[in-house]
Amino acid sequence: MRIVVEKDYESMSKAVADHIIEMIKKKPNALIELPGGDTPLGIFKELVNASKTRNVDFSKCFFVSLDEWENLGYETKGSCKQTLFDYLYKQLPIDLEKQVCFFDGKADLEKECQRVDQFIFDHGNLDLAVLGIGMNGHVGFNEPGVDENQYCTIVPLDAVTQSVSIKYFGEQLNVAHGITLGFKHFLNAKEVILIADSERKADIVQKVIEGPLKNEVPASLIRKVKNSTIYLDRQASKKLKHQSLEAGY
Ligand code: PGA
Repeated sequence: MRIVVEKDYESMSKAVADHIIEMIKKKPNALIELPGGDTPLGIFKELVNASKTRNVDFSKCFFVSLDEWENLGYETKGSCKQTLFDYLYKQLPIDLEKQVCFFDGKADLEKECQRVDQFIFDHGNLDLAVLGIGMNGHVGFNEPGVDENQYCTIVPLDAVTQSVSIKYFGEQLNVAHGITLGFKHFLNAKEVILIADSERKADIVQKVIEGPLKNEVPASLIRKVKNSTIYLDRQASKKLKHQSLEAGY
């Protein structure tokens, strides 16, 4: 896994956006998964700017959702769908119906798993998966103890994830379950990018990069993906012993 440490959140966001743009230039019809949460908001801003000021063609690529809270949809501020659509998709010159496949947290979740799996299989796996890292090391809603052999799946949410959710909703909603792309999609992806910023992520980032590969720290398993990069700001990297460019498997 390559480690890229940028001086602050803004430069980290720009570096990740540039990475995504480069891959779209190489493969205009790429299938890209982007996460919800707070970490990617700066990346979305850069992508929207790039669509207006730089020569990037977003008209042929496809986007798939990473996860969603059970029973929530676009109308709930802080849901994954609201975040992705308001901060990114609605601001890009793309056909939302054709180019975006998103989990519906209020539909039959088993069927949603099948629908989103099929969308990915129809495209022949993800070209790029971008993943935030939770305080407990989760990626998407692949919680500690994850089964690596799952495609889309419905997950009981970890206590840490449930309590962190207050920052998105401003109150504690009943979010006992989530729906998520499973690890098998990430392990099959052509490329994976992990992102983390701020000092509060420094401990978990150290475990993800320098700790043992273990299912209790789901993001550590991304080190199995040959073409993987973790982008950090300096604060999130401060517990790392080695800030070398390559972290061995
Ligand atoms: P955050 O969430 O970007 O809001 O920190 C990351 C996650 O929990 O997956």
